[in-house]
Amino acid sequence: MFSDIIKNGEYKNLVNGKWVESSSKELISISSPVDGSLVGKVQAMSMEEADIAIHGVKTSYRVWAEKSISERAAVLHKTADILEEYSKQIGKILAWEIAKEYGSAVTEVTRTAEFIRFTAEQGKRMQGETLYGDSFDEKAKNKISIVTREPLGVILAIAPFNYPVNLSASKIAPALMAGNGVLFKPPTQGAISALHLIRAFQMAGVPDGVINTVTGRGSIIGDYLITHKDVDMINFTGSTEVGKHIAKIAGMMPIIMELGGKDAAIVLEDVDLEDTAENIVKGAFSYSGQRCTAVKRVLVMDEIADSLVGKIKERVEKLKVGNPMDGATITPLIDDRAAEFVQELIDDAITKGAILILGNKREKNLLYPTVLDQVKIDMRIAWEEPFGPVLPVIRVKSIEEAISIANRSEYGLQSSVFTKNIDKAFYIARKLEVGTVQINNKTERGPDHFPFLGVKSSGMGTQGIKYSIEAMSRPKAIVINLK
Ligand code: NAP
Ligand code: G3H
Repeated sequence: MFSDIIKNGEYKNLVNGKWVESSSKELISISSPVDGSLVGKVQAMSMEEADIAIHGVKTSYRVWAEKSISERAAVLHKTADILEEYSKQIGKILAWEIAKEYGSAVTEVTRTAEFIRFTAEQGKRMQGETLYGDSFDEKAKNKISIVTREPLGVILAIAPFNYPVNLSASKIAPALMAGNGVLFKPPTQGAISALHLIRAFQMAGVPDGVINTVTGRGSIIGDYLITHKDVDMINFTGSTEVGKHIAKIAGMMPIIMELGGKDAAIVLEDVDLEDTAENIVKGAFSYSGQRCTAVKRVLVMDEIADSLVGKIKERVEKLKVGNPMDGATITPLIDDRAAEFVQELIDDAITKGAILILGNKREKNLLYPTVLDQVKIDMRIAWEEPFGPVLPVIRVKSIEEAISIANRSEYGLQSSVFTKNIDKAFYIARKLEVGTVQINNKTERGPDHFPFLGVKSSGMGTQGIKYSIEAMSRPKAIVINLK
């Protein structure tokens, strides 16, 4: 099944139906964040090779768009079957390549299969509309507009390292269901897992050229892809820094962006402390905090702060730290630079007076889960996204103060509100400047058909299965003028 994509530990790119090596012979070694061992090598594609890949998608996608919706849906269902069949094999590679706990890595693959199935079914249910002219102007009674949806063409899909299978498929499957072709640029760390996903699409029957891949460092090949004249839309997930750069250079191009976050968990006095602490710890520390939707700060009412911090501490102490193959929640961060950055934020907070509850221990890129209490707004950790296993607790005196600190963030992905008082929950939820507010639950993306969006520096456009299909297609109006 996967033998075509690799030769002597070197992974190839899918270009126009063939798995090919780069003629430059330049390779990028992908080492495991766990122990530095070699996971494999991927091709550093040249710009000329990227041209061939983009041209291939441009000339092939119409064949796909002309297939019936049911045929496209059947290919997606087959892809999901293949992913389910190989979930353990792909999960193992994923676990090693990005240091994600093995069970969660397998779940990423099976969740992706479910996502693809739902997308296939949703695609069958997408409908246009019919508008009558005289609802605007009685003299236009003879006009009827039939509005259908058309693909956009070549979707450039760029995914981040933390969900290389799921966040790739969440672009590719809706793009395909809408009749587009996809030029896929996987994250470099995560590329090997992502190429397995692409092989599943190919094996399921996506025609040659409808998905082509370009591996290579984003910092080298990225700008070329973004500004390529044959790309019709960009669907990007990654950091706010890269997202803003892309937005600057992309010009007049439709873009969807899922970017960074600083999700706050606001905790009122009346909560069930056990349940709230459980949610916060899962939200903050799963996959070592390397999730856009991780709980990245707690804003808790002063009077219950001691009790909440105690409950959080009890749970964090029990988190397993170490190897993703041994069921550890806290695993080595993606690289040393990431660990160094988180350490900087911890050091800054402690220097400025934050109280260390536990953690602040580091072995290279393995950072032990860290909880900081009495975090104040002059500390970097109050505002910056660590993307690592550190949870700052900010004590507040009122709901208004919590809302104000939550909204002062440059980010606006999600927030949680924990309270038994539904009126207060709604009051706060309506004031928060974020894409989604979770009431009495940790911040999280799924279920994957819910709308998923960030405001401010957390993104633009809306994803979620139906929304993604809509975003990667456009209305086309055909007006009948009755005589
Ligand atoms: P990243 O460094 O921004 O990289 C994301 C992707 O962009 C990678 O494929 C990267 O390629 C590519 N890239 C880099 N420079 C580029 C350029 N100039 N042009 C085009 N592509 C370029 O982000 P990351 O470290 O992988 O992911 C972590 C970040 O993503 C966090 O901030 C997290 O919050 C955010 N994220 C957001 C969501 C969401 O839904 N809102 C979901 C997941 C993650 P290389 O790998 O080759 O550098
Ligand atoms: O990292 C960003 C993902 O979209 C988060 O998904 O909340 O299911 O972990 P998740």
